[in-house]
Amino acid sequence: MTQKIETALAGIRYPSVPEGLYEPIAYTLSAGGKRLRPTLLLMAYGLYRDDVEFALPAAIALETYHNHTLLHDDLMDQADVRRGRPTVHRRWDANTAILSGDEMLILAFRHMLRQPVADQGRKDELLRLFADTMQEICEGQQFDMNFESREDVSEAEYIEMIRLKTSVLLACALKAGALIAGAPVRDTQLLYQFGEKVGLAFQLQDDYLDCYGDPAVFGKEIGGDIRCGKKTYMLISALGRADGRQREILLSRNVEHVLSCYDELGIPALCREKIDTIYGEARQAYDALPLPLSRKRALWEYAESMMNRKK
Ligand code: IPE
Ligand code: IPE
Ligand code: MG
Ligand code: MG
Ligand code: MG
Repeated sequence: MTQKIETALAGIRYPSVPEGLYEPIAYTLSAGGKRLRPTLLLMAYGLYRDDVEFALPAAIALETYHNHTLLHDDLMDQADVRRGRPTVHRRWDANTAILSGDEMLILAFRHMLRQPVADQGRKDELLRLFADTMQEICEGQQFDMNFESREDVSEAEYIEMIRLKTSVLLACALKAGALIAGAPVRDTQLLYQFGEKVGLAFQLQDDYLDCYGDPAVFGKEIGGDIRCGKKTYMLISALGRADGRQREILLSRNVEHVLSCYDELGIPALCREKIDTIYGEARQAYDALPLPLSRKRALWEYAESMMNRKK
């Protein structure tokens, strides 16, 4: 699957001028990345049909859109490194990240428009799903930023924020693949629910790796979330368990001090447990999917590999 996506992405030709607009796009989309969202889309399509190339335009749309969010996210999060390379606003500047990012949003929409769907009603549903998803991600990103300056964010608020900023795109990928394949309505709903849970676990894992990952493998700077005061599950649970002294450290945004406080409070293990619990919920949605195991097994295996990721 991933190879098909890489080949399709590599085959896209961008206009040569203005260079300042298109070069950062090619730079971003050729930088690797796990290609999770397009892979999930093709896998969901592949549950129902064998000609997976058919869904490549929608798959490329989601990857282009995802990379658009990263350009803006890195600017908002003041992140200097992504996929082991300087971020666009570092390699170029903030205006470039904004405008090339905008252009990627438009290109993503164009890719989605050229996706053939047998039934016009389903095509409309696909476009509505895409628009709803993009709007929810903006909402999630705004909550993420709002939470930086709050000290009383609850676990439920955090979960809803990551559902919005991250889960809905994974859920959209799965549902989109199923919609394009003409899957039964119930299946499209179950795949969406499965994607939501996988997405929550995925963002928890991302937050965990932001503290405990190997920078050479993770491709991003370690400790960025702590420096920004991001209200992650780890920070929220630590604040819930902290005494006065620990609370002060946890709110200091000092990476080394916060990490040693996490250790004192047993936060790494707590976070792993939370990830496992949510994964169990994802499994329930997956089990409910009325397809033979021979057909759907690869999807679970892929979700598991996402969980064991180090990058
Ligand atoms: C990064 O997504 C943004 C999050 C939602 C955590 P990925 O971890 O899928 O990034 P790439 O595309 O593989 O680099
Ligand atoms: C990413 O959350 C969510 C979106 C890009 C929409 P993060 O800010 O945690 O993602 P990374 O860690 O920068 O990839
Ligand atoms: Mg970020
Ligand atoms: Mg962010
Ligand atoms: Mg992160």
